[in-house]
Amino acid sequence: MSESVSLTKDGEIAVITIDNPPVNALSAEVAEGIRAALEAAQNDLSVKAIVLIGAGRTFIAGADIKEFGKITSGEKGGPELNLLLQNIEDCAKPVVCAIHGTGFGGGLEVAMACHYRIAAPDAQVGQPEVKLGLIPGAGGTQRLPRLAGIAKAVEMCALGDPVSASEALKFGIVDTIVDGDLRQGALAFAREAVTKGQPPRTRERSAKLGDERSNAPIFAAGRELAGKKARGMIAPLRAIAAVEAAAKLPFKEGLDRETELFRECLFSEQSKALIHVFLGEREVSKIPGVSKDTPTVEVRKAAVVGAGTMGSGIAMVYANAGVPVLLKEASQEMLDRGLGTIRRNYAASAERRRFTQEFVDQRLELIRPSLTYDDFAEADIVVEAVFENMELKKGVFSELDKVCKPDAILASNTSSLNIDEIASVTGRPHQVIGHHFFAPPNVMRLLEIVRGGATSNEVVASSLALARKLGKTGVVVGNCRGFVGNRMYAPYQREAQFLVEEGATVEQVDDALYSFGMAMGPLAAGDLSGLDVGWRIRKEYQHLEPKGVRRPLVADRLCQLQRFGQKTGAGWYKYDPSDRTRMPDPEVEKIVEECARAAGIDRRSISDHEIVERTIYALITEGARILEEGIALRAVDIDIIYIYGYGFPAHRGGPMWYAGTVGLKEVYDRIRQFRDQHGDFWEPPPLLRQLAERGKTFDDFDKERVLQLRAQKH
Ligand code: NAI
Repeated sequence: MSESVSLTKDGEIAVITIDNPPVNALSAEVAEGIRAALEAAQNDLSVKAIVLIGAGRTFIAGADIKEFGKITSGEKGGPELNLLLQNIEDCAKPVVCAIHGTGFGGGLEVAMACHYRIAAPDAQVGQPEVKLGLIPGAGGTQRLPRLAGIAKAVEMCALGDPVSASEALKFGIVDTIVDGDLRQGALAFAREAVTKGQPPRTRERSAKLGDERSNAPIFAAGRELAGKKARGMIAPLRAIAAVEAAAKLPFKEGLDRETELFRECLFSEQSKALIHVFLGEREVSKIPGVSKDTPTVEVRKAAVVGAGTMGSGIAMVYANAGVPVLLKEASQEMLDRGLGTIRRNYAASAERRRFTQEFVDQRLELIRPSLTYDDFAEADIVVEAVFENMELKKGVFSELDKVCKPDAILASNTSSLNIDEIASVTGRPHQVIGHHFFAPPNVMRLLEIVRGGATSNEVVASSLALARKLGKTGVVVGNCRGFVGNRMYAPYQREAQFLVEEGATVEQVDDALYSFGMAMGPLAAGDLSGLDVGWRIRKEYQHLEPKGVRRPLVADRLCQLQRFGQKTGAGWYKYDPSDRTRMPDPEVEKIVEECARAAGIDRRSISDHEIVERTIYALITEGARILEEGIALRAVDIDIIYIYGYGFPAHRGGPMWYAGTVGLKEVYDRIRQFRDQHGDFWEPPPLLRQLAERGKTFDDFDKERVLQLRAQKH
């Protein structure tokens, strides 16, 4: 057959086994293997029925994602899956598909073309293509509604979430669930199918397709939900349009419509960006000096110092991963407050049915409160999350150095302070590292792993492995003020405030960036996290700021008036005390006008386009400097940080990828104009100039970097 597909026989039943580790991706080779095996089984007169099954840990988990890129770059035409699926469906002998692990994307499409589907109890099926900005392209949007009904098909194709075997059974996606050995179950099922005569073809079913009147509200609700859950994304809407075609058109025409919509998505900027993010997430764990063989510390027990906003959330992250965690505070009062927050968070999760009460009770038991460093010797890792103050942190680390076992990882959750200076008070700077979680830590996916000058490869490797265990995406960055994320966030915030001083309203700035796709506008985000945080940091670093450079004025003024944001009921906006509804505040408009007058700024009307350019290009400029300095290894590392830590829209691929979609030359030219208009902090970094002049993108930079790293290794 082929290397990845084999054909064997068990009596009168032919068994086609897909073996393309690790996840049986539906590559062109696998598709060809299935085609050839099917043909052979059909021609073999002794075969009465056929079983299609996956070897290893799963059935087909989806398409081979790298092949999409080949199609869009014109390298090859893409597998003709529709024809293969029609062959399966037309086969005169019953074809039984046996699903274990995940039958996703192309996997489910293959399964739906078979005459029967059986599943292992823990199997999952789904059409997750939308998560890559695509829609099912091999009949998924046409066959799924015929099996599961319009509503379920809309939900699965537009949102992309997986469905359990029992739910799949309930909705008619699978015919039965088999306990015990799946292959044996499939053989028995196939033998019985032989006695049943002409097998049902999915494409000929229509009982669940509904009619125009019953379907219209389903499509409308689907579009509304997709608009909320996948704001700005086109694929979910195209997926719904394809399901709509299934309801209205004959199968063949519906399939053609699906192909048209699939190709529109495949060639869209959004899909390219989402595939970049998908592959990037795997790329970021590749670090020079760290390999599979690098020894790692296995984290069995953890400790957290400080039970404030971050510390209490970090303790939950460890508990959620099943790791017992000591939580130390400075006073009983603060400890009680921290534990109260944890209990409230868990209670809310149980209420929303995210966790069961039993799970919550077990997690709470894993968190052990403490007022001393007793028992810290047991911890494999300590995460410090006390106030952002160097002297305090140094005090904590010198204590930790005394009490912790020699190979324990000593991590700081600092968001801006120098890791090397913190490490300097210990006798083991190679064990010290930054673990920068994002608020709220139990929700946000990002862990910025800050490597100090002395941090060992083992501690970096352990941190990456730990991030995975905690369900986080770890990105390794170098040590500098604000690291990658917050260092870039500073000029982004600066521009947002400058724009307000120059004439935009607070809401206009936030709305423009929200429409661009940011999870929240920068000023509303400032109100949420507390304006006092940045104010304190600005005061602490005041002596380092260059003189005679324009600085934003309004945020400091708001803080002087004790307007710290949501927590004080007012900041850039005012908030309804009962439900924190955000309202524009004329007071702020007055403050802005005063500040602008004092600074001699002529206020003008500003377009939304300028707002997006000024703020997002500020991110790109600083990102390019960070790359140039080697603080981030690759541009995609920055993209992942911004998507998972700062609410940058994934369908724009992250700030550095986005720059490439605008065109680096265009971005560079605009940045030079900004420099001429607004000052030297807009001076474009040489790396940006070089790439722009060579007609390259940051993605090209990454490709060159990967080659360099490989060459160094050999
Ligand atoms: P917080 O003020 O909510 O909590 C700090 C806690 O540390 C307080 O409860 C305090 O009682 C406790 N503490 C102080 N000294 C202690 C000691 N010697 N032993 C035990 N506990 C002690 O501060 P937050 O916001 O949780 O910040 C903590 C760290 O996390 C800071 O370094 C901050 O920069 C960083 N961070 C904060 C983020 C945020 O959004 N709030 C995001 C990412 C990092």
